[in-house]
Amino acid sequence: MARTGRPTLAVVGATGAVGAVMLQILSQRADIWGEIRLLASPRSAGRKLAVRGEEVEVAALTEEALDGVDVAMFDVPDEVAAQWAPIAAARGAVVIDNSGAFRMDPEVPLVVPEVNPHMARMRPRGIVSNPNCTTLSMIVALGALHAEFGLRELVVSSYQAVSGAGRAGIETLRAQLSLVAGTDLGTAPGDVRRAVGELTGPFPEPVALNVVPWAGSLREDGWSSEEMKVRDETRKILGLAALPVAVTCVRVPVLTTHSLTVHARFQDEVTVDGAREILATAPGVVLCDDPAAGEYPTPADVVGTDPTWVGRVRRALDDPTALELFVCGDNLRKGAALNTAQIAELVAAEMM
Ligand SMILES: NC(=O)c1ccc[n+]([C@@H]2O[C@H](COP(=O)([O-])OP(=O)(O)OC[C@H]3O[C@@H](n4cnc5c(N)ncnc54)[C@H](OP(=O)(O)O)[C@@H]3O)[C@@H](O)[C@H]2O)c1
Repeated sequence: MARTGRPTLAVVGATGAVGAVMLQILSQRADIWGEIRLLASPRSAGRKLAVRGEEVEVAALTEEALDGVDVAMFDVPDEVAAQWAPIAAARGAVVIDNSGAFRMDPEVPLVVPEVNPHMARMRPRGIVSNPNCTTLSMIVALGALHAEFGLRELVVSSYQAVSGAGRAGIETLRAQLSLVAGTDLGTAPGDVRRAVGELTGPFPEPVALNVVPWAGSLREDGWSSEEMKVRDETRKILGLAALPVAVTCVRVPVLTTHSLTVHARFQDEVTVDGAREILATAPGVVLCDDPAAGEYPTPADVVGTDPTWVGRVRRALDDPTALELFVCGDNLRKGAALNTAQIAELVAAEMM
């Protein structure tokens, strides 16, 4: 198929956990791109990766490698994005950044195409930010409920997969699982910790046979950076600058797909039937909610899929204005690569 005249795309960080899923997604979605250029650190230069059924050689990220790029997706660590996204934008590319470097910059929109697509056009710095994976795993469902009911308060707990910490997170859980499999570890205080030893990778504690009430780095008054991201980003995406938000982020031994319990309080009384109707028809949401039949979403079933899955929809027992939900979303797809691809498609549509 002729690809001339179509926008050139660069995937910066093509070799990472998000980058790998991005290449799958670009191979599965409508092929709107001309050239797709794959960039990473000099360590990966010369590697070949498959995208759209073709082998493409990875090049090192340099200023010249960005020449002629119309849209640049950045799937790299914060500090790399902070340095290189403005360079790419100055060379004429629209940057869609998956890192945390620009999300709270007032001149950078934070976009979820199902919730605030119009914001993708307002990009004075030439950069659009993609929210973090924990926020993204719930925000499509929450945005649909907010549009109808008017959100007034949010209390969430996350159950976050290890791939939220990149390739290193995946490798760490796999290595720890092989250490503990077939043993009687997990029966005495500290036995898992001793078996795992130094092999904790990007996590502060063993994650196999464990749950860890910590994700990210320490912020003021005992909050974690991940918790602050969920609060700040939810407020920015929904345009609710003063929304009361309480978050506890927890890491669990799941490879990919974040889950959250959500307590959402709205302006007026809500009904479960009303909430179900909204969730059943909201774009990007699947309602999977029949506990009598054992139907609710779990990461093991949701991983590898695109939508936000919602189950356990209940009205709060002590507050007729509040709903309780359980939400699952693949943190590498909607939580990262898919949302970025959707934003890039919105931007590409302006160019064609
Ligand atoms: N994992 C998630 O669920 C998730 C969700 C949302 C957002 N994010 C964000 O997305 C970004 C990527 O995350 P990840 O999980 O994919 O990380 P990752 O698996 O560690 O991959 C990092 C990528 O960045 C590249 N890179 C590192 N240093 C570079 C440099 N100096 N120049 C050019 N490329 C460089 C790496 O290339 P080499 O292979 O050559 O080292 C690799 O392609 C992060 O900002 C992360 O916070 C992640």
